Amino acid sequence: MDLAQNYNYKIVKQFAVATVVWGIIGMLVGVIIAAQLAWPALNLDIPWLTYGRLRPLHTNAVIFAFGICGLFATSYYVVQRTCQVRLFSDKLAAFTFWGWQAVILSAVVTLPLGLTRGKEYAELEWPITLLIAVVWIAYAVVFFGTIITRKVKHIYVANWFFASFILAVTILHVVNGASMPATLFKSYSAYAGVQDAMIQWWYGHNAVGFILTAGYLGMVYYFIPKQAERPVYSYRLSIVHFWALIFTYMWAGPHHLHYTALPDWTQSLGMVFSLILLAPSWGGMINGIMTLSGAWHKLRTDPILKFMIVSLSFYGIATFEGPMMSIKTVNALSHYTDWSIAHVHGGALGWVGFITMGSIYYILPRMAGQQKMYSTKLIDLHFWVATIGIVLYIAAMWIAGVMQGLMWRAVNPDGTLTYTFVESVKATFPYYVVRFSGGLLYLTGMCVMGYNTWMTLRNRETAVARIPALTSGHA
Ligand code: HEM
Ligand code: HEM
Repeated sequence: MDLAQNYNYKIVKQFAVATVVWGIIGMLVGVIIAAQLAWPALNLDIPWLTYGRLRPLHTNAVIFAFGICGLFATSYYVVQRTCQVRLFSDKLAAFTFWGWQAVILSAVVTLPLGLTRGKEYAELEWPITLLIAVVWIAYAVVFFGTIITRKVKHIYVANWFFASFILAVTILHVVNGASMPATLFKSYSAYAGVQDAMIQWWYGHNAVGFILTAGYLGMVYYFIPKQAERPVYSYRLSIVHFWALIFTYMWAGPHHLHYTALPDWTQSLGMVFSLILLAPSWGGMINGIMTLSGAWHKLRTDPILKFMIVSLSFYGIATFEGPMMSIKTVNALSHYTDWSIAHVHGGALGWVGFITMGSIYYILPRMAGQQKMYSTKLIDLHFWVATIGIVLYIAAMWIAGVMQGLMWRAVNPDGTLTYTFVESVKATFPYYVVRFSGGLLYLTGMCVMGYNTWMTLRNRETAVARIPALTSGHA
């Protein structure tokens, strides 16, 4: 067999399976911490299992394990298909897989032990941070090497989104990761005070912009046209909103630091750029949804397409809500409350989760040389269980959030607070129980996906797909 004639599907399959496995684990930890918030006795008085240690484990597992494995799988698939060439280096690609699993396992061990840099979404201590940098550079070499050796002249827009995600994460990780090691597992940030906070949230917000948004838009531009069998609605719009999006995201970070020691003008600047962000975000959302023009009837029978389209709807919701929450007077109500958690999970479960699941359902049977997944009915079941789960989760958190914000600011005529903090916690309890049930449903859906994946891949060799002779179309 002449390997040069085939795509590297092995690595795509490995990352696709890892996405499903880490999805189940990360969401299970999410359900556990949701239960702990409702019933604190579940902290069990065991330090490693306390909420404070499991919470970062959840965020790391869902973003860096589930989310980024999904991005590895899809970007490796898309870049090969659209460039009509095998990955630049099989060995380096394999290194990115095993290196990334090592990063995740290190997180699974160190976070429950309480070893952390204390920066949200950048918790991992300096030796792991260094490993991330090495794996990421290898990823960049494989991805850009494949683009450079492409057989098709045009670089398809999905690759632009993946490329911006890879480049931006390199810069963000290096700048925010800069720290001075004190011991093997303790380091101190290279920045101090408010500068440290600003760098952290420049990083944090761009992690949203480039990991949780740009990378997944790469999926939108390949898998939605493929699954709908329709061309992208407007290719011109895809280019315009790409440049507008990556330019604007970089400036919006200070909306995480409203009413802090950060200079006031910086906060206002962050707010203005966040409001502007609505336009390029909705450009992408509308372009994705309109790609279904003439193919709407397929939604009746195709659950994969349902995942994709509903994900765009949640993208639209999160990117409308985000700019609203960045307005300082609105943020005065929403900050510190569960409204933020509703916003996060509308984006995370609805947008990131659903587009990933849809795309992985598209890829998996192709890895097994099959037309479709083992069971389409189970995909449909997954879709409905997960959708109900999201609605329960975010509706509960929206109500709880606004209620908390209003209770905390209520004052009596004599100027004293109307409610104690504990009263607001008590009032939140039923909503925490509803959120827990919603999360449990979402996790159940993921387990159904796990079973469907197992049955699809069971006893099947990785398929071999031949690279077509030189053409100018996209495969
Ligand atoms: C079964 C599904 C899930 C459940 C039950 C769940 C539950 C939770 C809970 C209880 C928290 C802590 C909330 C708090 O601090 O009050 C949390 C935080 C978080 N989760 Fe999830 N989660 C789930 C899935 C996901 C997924 C798939 C993602 C991302 C792709 C995600 C991203 C996050 C992030 C970023 C935070 C931190 C939010 C912040 O600091 O504002 N979650 N989750
Ligand atoms: C136009 C786009 C968006 C804007 C302007 C925006 C704005 C905001 C604002 C103002 C906050 C609250 C900050 C605070 O009070 O602390 C926030 C939090 C957050 N948003 Fe968005 N958002 C956008 C889209 C998204 C999307 C698509 C996601 C995907 C999951 C997302 C994930 C998050 C996360 C994880 C947080 C919590 C950060 C933390 O405190 O740990 N956002 N966003």
